[in-house]
Order: sequence, then structure tokens, then C-alpha cells
Amino acid sequence: MAIRRVGVVGCGLMGGGIAQTCAQSGYETVVLEVNQQFLDKGLARIHGAWNMMASKGKISQGQGDEYVGRLHGTLEMADFTNCDLVIEAVIENMEEKLRLFPALDHILKPDALLLSNTSSLNVTQMGAVTKRPDKVCGLHFFNPAPVMKLVEIVKTISTSDETIETVRQFALSLGKMPVLAKDTAGFIVNFLLIPYLLAAIRMLENGMASREDIDAAMKLGCGYPMGPFTLLDYVGLDTTLWAAEAIYEEFKDPLYAPPPLLRRMVLSGMFGKKSGKGFYEYQ
Ligand code: 3HC
Repeated sequence: MAIRRVGVVGCGLMGGGIAQTCAQSGYETVVLEVNQQFLDKGLARIHGAWNMMASKGKISQGQGDEYVGRLHGTLEMADFTNCDLVIEAVIENMEEKLRLFPALDHILKPDALLLSNTSSLNVTQMGAVTKRPDKVCGLHFFNPAPVMKLVEIVKTISTSDETIETVRQFALSLGKMPVLAKDTAGFIVNFLLIPYLLAAIRMLENGMASREDIDAAMKLGCGYPMGPFTLLDYVGLDTTLWAAEAIYEEFKDPLYAPPPLLRRMVLSGMFGKKSGKGFYEYQ
């Protein structure tokens, strides 16, 4: 099946990055938000990224204009009617996804694929509330989505091989390297990354070292591009908490139990870079 028109639900950090990537890769892209304010903010971030790329000479002004022309913001799900593939990138809350998936299933054309960017939630359950579970799978991007080369394709027990192959080709067309994971919480990356991030928080809670020294240690000692606290702030403390909770719920392994400090920071609105305060402060 040929993918020409792509829908993205949500124009936040991840949805916006995914929409940007799709429009840059030649797809007519429709991005849906719940209100004009969120949509304007998300589109402004994407346009800002293209301006930045143009100012660095990575794209021409003409290319930037082409990208802008291919990206359409909307508040109406009905604008997805002609999409061949829709990627959901809304808040990591199962109730929200279980409301969204039947609504999308109802509006999309019968052969359209329905993908979730969830980082840890159960994709099988999302497919099960649609009449097209064979056309539902996960396509998990990494932040910043336009830059990070990896995507995880998540196959449920109902996803068809044909769907996986179409999504694999789609991922390659976005310039991404796809890896295939079974639908178990955390897939590949978060199953390994979350315990590392939580261990760093526990080290801080226990006074074993300062956040700056822990960050410097992993950056300079292991060659990671960011230390764990910079990465936690970058990914979002709320997102990290939801991922940890989802994996803990599935496996009941204490490695994934959210440390008290993480929960309290999220309860206090300290979400990291996006809220201006996390383990560090941002202007
Ligand atoms: N669009 C296009 N290009 C962008 C961009 C965007 N939105 N954002 C950044 N870039 C480009 C910059 O222009 C720059 O390009 P250049 O090198 O050609 O000039 C390049 O990306 C690097 O950006 P910066 O120079 O601003 O900054 P850094 O060199 O410090 O790199 C980083 C930033 C790529 C974020 C790097 O620090 C990094 O790789 N960090 C780790 C990120 C990571 O681990 N992400 C995964 C998190 S886990 C996750 O998302 C899963 C979730 O489920 C929890």
C-alpha cells in the first residue's frame, strides 16, 4: 500500500517532531490538536526548526517553503479522512488512547494504518478497541524526533506482516532505522533506559553524588551525549514517570518502581525543560 498522506494526532514535543519529520520527508501531513493555542504553539516550534535549518544552510529557503506547504494544522479529526496512515502521539494515558482509537477507526478509510507513538503502553489493547487490529502497531520515535535515527516498530499479536512491512518501508522513507519489538511494556529502549534514569535519581536521593557530577560522569566517562539528569529534563519527568509506571505495572520488577523524588517533582509541575524546571532550571 502506498503512503502519501499522513495524519499525526498531537502537536506537542513528540507529535510536532513526528509531523515535522513526515512533512520534511515529502508526505502531505495533517496534524491535529485539541485547541488553537496548542496548535499554534506546536506549528510555531516546527516552523522555528525549519528557519533554524535554513539559517544554518542545511535547507534552502525554497525547501523550507515546500515543507511549510505540506504541513496542515487542524482541530477537526474529519481532516484525517484521506490519510493513508495516522500516528497517535497524545498524552501517555491509556484511557485517552482508548477513547481516541475507536474515534480514529470510525473516521479513517478502511485500509488506513493506525499507529501509536506510545513509549510503553499496551498497543494490543489499542488495536483491540478498533475494527482493524491487523492494521494497528506501534511506531515509537525518540526525542528530538527529526534528529534521532531510531524508530521502534511494535508488533502486537494481531498486527499483520503486511502492516509491519509497510511501516518498515515508511520508517526508512523518513530516514529512520527501524527495529522490531514485541508489544511488551518498554519495548527495547525504555526497558533498558528507564532503570538507568531511575537509578540516577535514587543515587541523588541517597546523596551519593551531586546531579552535576552524575551527569558529568556519564557524559565524559561513557560518552553519552547527555548525562541522566539532563536527559530526564529533556525527555520530560512526567513522560519518564508514566513509562516507569507502565513497565512496573507489567513486570512488577522493583527496578522500574518510580523513586519518591520523581513522583513528587511531577506532582509539583516540575516536568523538566518544557515547564522551565526539572533537575535544572531553564529560561
Ligand atoms: N529539527 C531539525 N534539526 C534539529 C532539531 C529539529 N527539531 N533539533 C536539533 N536539530 C539539529 C541541530 O540543528 C544540530 O544540527 P547540526 O549538528 O548539523 O548543526 C543537531 O541537531 C544537534 O543539535 P544541537 O547542536 O542543538 O545540540 P547537540 O549537538 O547538543 O545535540 C541532541 C542535541 C541531538 C539532543 C543530543 O544531545 C542527544 O543526542 N541527546 C540524547 C537524546 C536522547 O537520548 N534521546 C532519546 C530520549 S528517550 C526517548 O525519547 C524515548 C521516550 O519514550 C522516553
